[in-house]
Amino acid sequence: MAPTAAQRSPTACAATAAVLLLLLTSCLAVAATDATTTTVATGGGTRRVLVANGLGLTPQMGWNSWNHFQGNINETIIRRTADALVATGLAKAGYTYVNLDDYWADSQRNNKGYMVANPKTFPSGIKALADYVHSKGLKLGLYSSAGTRTCSKQMPGSLGHEDTDAKTFASWGVDYLKYDNCNRDGTPETVRFPRMARALTNSGRSIFYSLCEWGNMDVAKWGGSYGNSWRTTGDITDTWTR
Ligand SMILES: *[C@@H]1O[C@H](CO)[C@@H](O)[C@H](O)[C@H]1NC(C)=O
Repeated sequence: MAPTAAQRSPTACAATAAVLLLLLTSCLAVAATDATTTTVATGGGTRRVLVANGLGLTPQMGWNSWNHFQGNINETIIRRTADALVATGLAKAGYTYVNLDDYWADSQRNNKGYMVANPKTFPSGIKALADYVHSKGLKLGLYSSAGTRTCSKQMPGSLGHEDTDAKTFASWGVDYLKYDNCNRDGTPETVRFPRMARALTNSGRSIFYSLCEWGNMDVAKWGGSYGNSWRTTGDITDTWTR
């Protein structure tokens, strides 16, 4: 979609304003009415993003628990992984995200409707884990699905609970959300994934939003408007057949 005047870069806006004070007033007015969509510079031009959190301007780097551990994660493993990222020098090289995948939460929401950490495997809770990871200079990522349950079906998904979950994640100090596409309700990805983008934008914290809808619905054409990254395939593994 071609940008309208309201979505052009703030730099152009400021330059014009320097010449004509009157125009500054109109630029500010435009900014005020366009608060949910922001234009970011990407080197080759600009693109509109809903999650204008300043993240993802270069590819994210770090670790995700799924490839090696699948569902067998616990807080000790995650803390040790954070330690290892620092000890091996990977953190210094830019591998700063420590991301939990499926299985981190208790199987049901609590009686107030909030997701909670699995009490057996993450007894200290996610906030304590985030504090630990942050103390190492790293960032903590979490996982959910745009469906009623996650892919394992062992924990709730965020469909219909986007605002609650985004605010919960923000309150714990979470820095990243991988949002999967299992156990959906039939509404298209182009509806379900933007809902979480809005919720994260309103959460009060800059949270990297990783769309994981597997390349359905031509995500390359719209993912950049709603997320900081968008996966274009199913799972990859450490096999080297191509
Ligand atoms: C975490 O998992 C590891 C590896 O399976 C295990 O040795 C350890 O006892 C577990 N710790 C907790 C707190 O569950």
